[in-house]
Amino acid sequence: MIGSIGVFDSGVGGLSVLAEIRRLLPDAAITYVADQAHAPYGERSLVDVRRRAEAVTALLVDAGAALVVVACNSASAAALHHLRRRFPEIAFVGMEPAVKPAAASTRTRAIGVLATEATFQGTLFASVVDRHASTVAVVARACPGLATAVEDGDDLRARQLVSAYVGPLVDRGVDTIVLGCTHYSFLATDIAAVAGDGVTIVDPAAAVARRVAMLLPAAPAGPLRFVTTGDPERFAQQLRRLTPQFAGAAKVTAS
Ligand code: DGL
Repeated sequence: MIGSIGVFDSGVGGLSVLAEIRRLLPDAAITYVADQAHAPYGERSLVDVRRRAEAVTALLVDAGAALVVVACNSASAAALHHLRRRFPEIAFVGMEPAVKPAAASTRTRAIGVLATEATFQGTLFASVVDRHASTVAVVARACPGLATAVEDGDDLRARQLVSAYVGPLVDRGVDTIVLGCTHYSFLATDIAAVAGDGVTIVDPAAAVARRVAMLLPAAPAGPLRFVTTGDPERFAQQLRRLTPQFAGAAKVTAS
């Protein structure tokens, strides 16, 4: 639909952002693309991720999107600048690890960031730390396998990985942990349990949704559509598991 909103991620992670957008814009026409044939993005090269981000954006633009939400930290790190140049007529909202609010509120002067390898490799992360967290210790923890455990609904594996990745952050004295990958929102409870009571978990999804609503307050009304480059039946099951509020209304198609 012309003037609609497009949202994409490598898979189901961006559903955590979509849920927040939907809360603010319950009737807006939105197309969500899960690029599951090429997931996980976080373990690919930045060049590869940029190529996929461009292809998926082209698909959303063809479907009428006027605003594209890159609901993936890895794709934002690899491609956001490139997408803005390549599609100058489209408004983009990307993800960047919420280092700024974390650095502003930490009392121990130490914050942890959980993200993918790709996100830490991009220049975006270094520049955010440089601009907003130069006076605090930033402990960056890449989490290979964690997004895949969320995709697979493998709770046992996810919990094992969360213990392995979050425990050392706590040992380093962080009192704030930034979720720097949209998949990890679905593990916020597990992450908080390992981190313990004194640690605040920061998820930027709601702030990103507010930005979308600000940029497109009169988004055209229309259906919520889901497209996957992977297996539509598997994606429909994932929707039922992670965001049951969308499962009934939604039809998943293949791209
Ligand atoms: N959800 C993505 C992110 O925010 C990427 C996960 C992946 O595909 O590795 O980084």
